[in-house]
Amino acid sequence: ETIYLADYTPFGWTVEDVHLTFRLAPESTRVISKIRFVPNPEASQERFFLHGEELTLVSAKIDGQSVSPEITEQGLTCAVPKGAFTWEAEVEIAPAKNFALEGLYMSNGMYCTQCEAEGFRKITYYPDRPDVMSVFTVRIEGDEPVKLSNGNPVASGEGFAEWHDPWPKPAYLFALVAGELVAHPDRFTTRSGKDVELNIYVRPGDEDKCAFGMEALKKSMKWDEDVYGREYDLDIFNIVAVDDFNMGAMENKGLNIFNSSCVLASPETSTDANFERIEAIIAHEYFHNWTGNRITCRDWFQLCLKEGLTVFRDASFTADMRSEPVKRISDVIDLRARQFREDNGPLAHPVRPESFQEINNFYTATVYEKGAEVIGMLKRLVGDEAYAKALDLYFDRHDGDAATIEDWLKVFEDATGRDLTQFKRWYSQAGTPRLRVSESWDDGTFTLTFRQETPPTPGQPTKLPQVLPIAVGLIGPNGDEVQETTLLEMTEAEQSFSFSGLGARPVPSILRGFSAPVVLQHETDTETRAFLLAHDTDPYNRWEAGRSLAKQALLRMITEGAEPDPAYLGALQTVITDETLDPAFRALTLALPSEDDLAQTLHEGGTTPDPQLIWEKREEMREAMARWMPDQLATLYRVHQVPGEYRPDAEPAAARALANTALGLLTRLDGGEAARAQYASADNMTQQLAALTALLSIGAAETELAAFYEQWKEDRLVIDKWFSMQVAFARPEETADVAAALVAHPDFDMKNPNRFRAVFGALSMSQAGFHAPSGKGYALLADWLIKLDALNPQTTARMCAAFQTWKRFDAGRQALIKAELERIAAREGLSRDVSEMVTRILNH
Ligand code: ARG
Ligand code: ZN
Repeated sequence: ETIYLADYTPFGWTVEDVHLTFRLAPESTRVISKIRFVPNPEASQERFFLHGEELTLVSAKIDGQSVSPEITEQGLTCAVPKGAFTWEAEVEIAPAKNFALEGLYMSNGMYCTQCEAEGFRKITYYPDRPDVMSVFTVRIEGDEPVKLSNGNPVASGEGFAEWHDPWPKPAYLFALVAGELVAHPDRFTTRSGKDVELNIYVRPGDEDKCAFGMEALKKSMKWDEDVYGREYDLDIFNIVAVDDFNMGAMENKGLNIFNSSCVLASPETSTDANFERIEAIIAHEYFHNWTGNRITCRDWFQLCLKEGLTVFRDASFTADMRSEPVKRISDVIDLRARQFREDNGPLAHPVRPESFQEINNFYTATVYEKGAEVIGMLKRLVGDEAYAKALDLYFDRHDGDAATIEDWLKVFEDATGRDLTQFKRWYSQAGTPRLRVSESWDDGTFTLTFRQETPPTPGQPTKLPQVLPIAVGLIGPNGDEVQETTLLEMTEAEQSFSFSGLGARPVPSILRGFSAPVVLQHETDTETRAFLLAHDTDPYNRWEAGRSLAKQALLRMITEGAEPDPAYLGALQTVITDETLDPAFRALTLALPSEDDLAQTLHEGGTTPDPQLIWEKREEMREAMARWMPDQLATLYRVHQVPGEYRPDAEPAAARALANTALGLLTRLDGGEAARAQYASADNMTQQLAALTALLSIGAAETELAAFYEQWKEDRLVIDKWFSMQVAFARPEETADVAAALVAHPDFDMKNPNRFRAVFGALSMSQAGFHAPSGKGYALLADWLIKLDALNPQTTARMCAAFQTWKRFDAGRQALIKAELERIAAREGLSRDVSEMVTRILNH
């Protein structure tokens, strides 16, 4: 069944308040609900329908009288009085048998919940839609020492705890946790003087991994006050770490629940990248308190209203805490890897989709990351001051609302007087615009002519021009900037912009800061790119110049059998040895475009990509880089060692990133000597893992891999790394066999999404290994997707996206993939989640 945005109607009742009592038992939890319904004056009264799935109804009453509702797989209907009434129900559920990890389930003996998007209906009968908001009071009965829910604690005693959340909320923000947990406590005073109790709850043994997350939380609270003027609004804020979790984390009101991989951190077990990610996710979930909870979504089509904005906010936070250019470059790498890939294939959909079968399939890079890009463009177009004004208006006008994208754009129109009709296409039109640039020079006037075109996507054969903010600067022939960054606002399919009064023909720096999520097509020569790599004042475009040089060189190696380009290697050497540049920036410049990026570019240029060849040429390029500048790399490695105690801050992390990138290259020359030494002396996970992966990439890690397992076998999150790196760094012809061997390992547990993704996420991301001509990778993944779907449809469906690029490849690979997709599609009892994904991918 397909659900359409156009069909939205409000619910016939509002919910005045909700009382829930939980009598916890693993196989037979009782949930007793008491809900006050009042006719909704803004809706036409329809049939009284409550969502409910996998529930056993024990009893139901209306105004104290027993009733016998009509029950289906999706919920119940019941005859109800004309006016207001009280609904009471008792249901039974079995959290210990809930492997979908949606609703109330158990993880390592602990009770926890995940309700977004539509999991509350697995807890009790309820109008489970985000526009129905209510005040919840929750009583939890059980022996567990810690029993938590949303809001403020109001009472507790022998075997029970009661919570009251004064802020009306939709059911998807409901949460409950109970178990043997220990708290890492702290406090925060808001700027208006409110004293807030903070806790990170973990399983006994993980107490020493909470300090960093707590600091990140306090920084986030402060930042949201300083930058957005938003204060926290309850007496207590709790975070709980859970090992079995489908996604990263969840912003339940006052009780955020985290995948333990996204909150637990220690120098010995977490890498620099882990620390940065944890800080960002804690911020993200905290920021949802205003952008998501206080102002929520009217319906799930509006998901980007909270997610795009909250990703944009957490990216700004990270930029402020660490390095702005490095954050921007990393985000663009990620956007291209995940969102452009989605936009270019069968799963392309608008930032605000117009239909879905299973909403969980739309928690995508497009909704989240492109959704954040759209907000970044809006901010650039209106300017920082107007953005701040519009946001104040948004919070003023919509606090307590379940809002829409129309509401969001209206505050910008009202705050700035701008007409956003055309801009709104960013929410409705799928696909990545291609932006073609040509330049001309005439007697002191330099003209840039742009043409935009968005390729067709499923259901959208033709596209209209978008509003494109194009940030441009001009560099004079001697390397000085002659035009500082200025914003060109493109609205037509084709448009020219001129700069006059110039003494000499400049070199343009186009799309500075990646000011719009487009594919820029600018035909320039190697010299111009090298010139920009040396002289651009915009760090993002400087990096981009290096990236495009690398890409050009690799594409020539792949399509023409060219040698690694000395012009690229020379330019690279100049940049990486420039000690005035941030080491993190230099590390990013040393990295090559991904195999996936190269495959997409080849495909678009009319060449069928050969994954094995792409892999080999990237290896050859790395080898050439190492041979071109061995002494410089050795110096970088030595100079950027970080002495003293490990700190996860941006500065030492940047030094480690550069040193370890150099190590990866040097390992190709020294047979692993430096990496083995680093492995032996490492006292933190960043150093240990960098050494181990360097050794893995030359196939010389046997001893260290065994030692690593022995050292960490009791730590689930570290063992996830052990699983994934073996797949990620295998030679392509062995990738599928390595993955197959790992799933036979006693520590492989398909029920744990982190462990499942460690193996199969790594398999599907190693392009050459996954697409090995034997088809072994496809078959292995399909086998396990079929197995997992019976337990956990949500995680299974997400992993189906591994097949989304199938139409790029040759007929042989396409036939193999098609057969696997059809094998999955033909399974009896296939989940709605997986069936929707496989159908969309097949119908390309
Ligand atoms: N709202 C959460 C976040 O972005 C994601 C939860 C999504 N869960 C799901 N089952 N689709 O922070
Ligand atoms: Zn979010």
